[in-house]
Amino acid sequence: MLSKRSQVLSESITIAISSMAKDMKAKGEDVISLSAGEPDFDTPKAIKDAVVEAMKKGCAKYTAVPGTPEVIKAIQTKLRVENNLEYQTNQIITTVGAKQGLFAIFQCLIDDGDEVIIPAPYWVSYPEMVKFCGGKPVFIEGDEHKNFKITAEQLKAAITPKTKAFVLGNPGNPSGNLYSKAELIEFAKVLKDTKVLVISDEIYEKINYVGEFTAAASINEDMFKRTITINGLSKAGAMTGWRFGYLACVLPELISAIKKVQSQSVSNISSIVQAGAIPALLGKTDDDIENMRKAYQERRDWMVDAINAIDGLSVVKPDGAFYLFINCKAVEKDSMKFCKELLAKEKVATVPGVGFGMDGYFRASYATDLDSIKKAVARIAKFVKEYKA
Ligand SMILES: Cc1ncc(COP(=O)(O)O)c(C=O)c1O
Repeated sequence: MLSKRSQVLSESITIAISSMAKDMKAKGEDVISLSAGEPDFDTPKAIKDAVVEAMKKGCAKYTAVPGTPEVIKAIQTKLRVENNLEYQTNQIITTVGAKQGLFAIFQCLIDDGDEVIIPAPYWVSYPEMVKFCGGKPVFIEGDEHKNFKITAEQLKAAITPKTKAFVLGNPGNPSGNLYSKAELIEFAKVLKDTKVLVISDEIYEKINYVGEFTAAASINEDMFKRTITINGLSKAGAMTGWRFGYLACVLPELISAIKKVQSQSVSNISSIVQAGAIPALLGKTDDDIENMRKAYQERRDWMVDAINAIDGLSVVKPDGAFYLFINCKAVEKDSMKFCKELLAKEKVATVPGVGFGMDGYFRASYATDLDSIKKAVARIAKFVKEYKA
């Protein structure tokens, strides 16, 4: 009954853990979740107010496929002011979160057998989307001591005549690594004489602890032409459920193909969500975003030290996002086993590294309040001590 295509998708590796955690919570057990991939904060007021205003004005009709002229203009301004990128309005498309934008890109780019280079550890959906479109994910492992970053030499070695694209999550999930301008320049040199496109997923751009962010497309003219920039407000705007994302690209055939995909699938993203995004894109929520960023930073700093103080665990301090990718090899190399037992014994939910393409690690999110993080880390320490005994 099922299409061949639907059957290439893997079951989410995290489902086993999250359904266990849900069952335990339903039974009234005191589960602390460090598995969330979303902010624990509420959406800034200016965004909510703009949505209420849009609803009152009867903003309830279909919009243009890429988005309303107002939201497209706001995205154009954001990319110009914050990223030094000069896109035309017809080069920008809103998407149902960054995720659906990525899906549409792969749909338009990948034919059977095309290769897509993905640094590991990777966000779980990249390889699944590539496989769904008939492509072949090609993984390059990042070096743990360099915050799981890959090098330009590794990128060069992975490119073949079949390589269609290179996906760069920057900052990355689950490692929180952040590529600097200098590192992006090295990638640009490698890509220069190739046909490889860059898919730059910048959804964690503003959850950044080094104070500097360079968009891949802004490196030089060549990178501008070969890069598809993806961003959105899910993470920085604390609005994961609203589903606001966008992409920008100067390749006319690709943009027009993605518009066709959008027009025959989603039509447009929610009209009121588009209205709500405008103040955030124009910098009206920068203070709220900065307050959230500072809170994440305080939690990160506390948690990195606390995890590194546990005999058997280690973690590199990440420069972005809100996750720690913790090495647990000295305790248990099978990350699924580690996470299942940690949940069963100490009621702390985390995500096994095997789902991100690296066993022997687990992901713990610090998008939760510091008190819960402190309690969870104490439980992890007890678990590790007893596991090793
Ligand atoms: C690296 C990365 N890209 C994209 C997304 C999806 O973002 P959105 O909620 O905007 O679809 C996520 C969400 O977890 C992510 O971690």
